[in-house]
Amino acid sequence: MESESPLLKVSNLHTHFFTKSGIVKAVDGVDFDIKPGETLGIVGESGSGKSITAMSILGLVPSPPGKIVNGEVLFKGENLVDKTDKQMRKIRGNEISMVFQDPMTSLNPVFTVEKQMIETILAHEKFTKKQARKRAIELLELVGIPDPQKRLKNYPHEFSGGMRQRVMIAIALSCNPSLLIADEPTTALDVTIQAQILELFKKMQKELDMAIIMITHDLGVVAEVCDRVMVMYAGKPVEFTDTTNLFDEGKHPYTLGLMNSIPKITAEKQKLEAIDGVPPDLRALPKGCSFAPRCKHVMESCLTIDPNLREVDDNHLVRCLLYEESESKKAVTP
Ligand SMILES: Nc1ncnc2c1ncn2[C@@H]1O[C@H](COP(=O)(O)OP(=O)(O)OP(=O)(O)O)[C@@H](O)[C@H]1O
Ligand SMILES: [Mg+2]
Repeated sequence: MESESPLLKVSNLHTHFFTKSGIVKAVDGVDFDIKPGETLGIVGESGSGKSITAMSILGLVPSPPGKIVNGEVLFKGENLVDKTDKQMRKIRGNEISMVFQDPMTSLNPVFTVEKQMIETILAHEKFTKKQARKRAIELLELVGIPDPQKRLKNYPHEFSGGMRQRVMIAIALSCNPSLLIADEPTTALDVTIQAQILELFKKMQKELDMAIIMITHDLGVVAEVCDRVMVMYAGKPVEFTDTTNLFDEGKHPYTLGLMNSIPKITAEKQKLEAIDGVPPDLRALPKGCSFAPRCKHVMESCLTIDPNLREVDDNHLVRCLLYEESESKKAVTP
């Protein structure tokens, strides 16, 4: 497993926005890889840089004001940061697909689902219209839309929210991507529909052997579908490990704060603890650790030293002075 080469390897990624009011360091040093068929979760509060990480991979950062100022995005060994818009369009159409939170922003309300699906399929495959229609029906079946032949004739507004999201997923799958990036794909749905869509992701991943990056602010979604998870705070990963390990051995005070804010079903009444404070202004990050102003365990050294992401255990990375080697702790707290 370890020797399997990654499908995608993001190294030292920095994506900044150059605005009139200052430089917004939306993504500020992100490293991760994803193996074929793996599901990686990216989790964090609003504004932590999850979507901009995805946009950077897809070549969709609005420029200006945004720019990838440093780093590499190696996909199947090629650096996507160096690609032209035209080359990126080809990669987005054939290799990497995406699903967003609100399907209505991606579906065209004035065309039937049939027209939109067939167009997408024909753009990627050398099919006749008849073959494309057959493929569209197969895809709708795969994502669990009943009576797909008939439903093809419908317009997007004739589907419920959950069904629309399934249509979007079917379209995203139409090019047989090796990587699917899903940005909050279930956030707009009610919990039962959310569970069905997550089941669908699991099924697709098994059947199609596709890697998935699942972006969410919800640790419950991570627990449900992800193999590994990267927790982001203020544009940087603060913890990165296997999902089960994160829930059993999560270490970063921010991760623990996120966990404490999930309601659990227990007999006793449980107090939910929100994380105090608000995420920092990315134009003027505090010196030292970005989470220090909100951290329950803050030490004096945290206000001056921005810790590195370190391996605290096998395959478990944490960016926090609490878990640094004792020598370096001594060095920072004389
Ligand atoms: N076009 C832009 N111009 C300036 N700043 C931007 C722009 N787009 C995004 N940002 C900033 O980049 C930061 C990261 O944004 P991003 O959309 O990645 O957050 P997120 O983690 O996806 O949050 P959410 O959970 O709300 O979707 C935010 O502070 C945001 O304000
Ligand atoms: Mg987002």
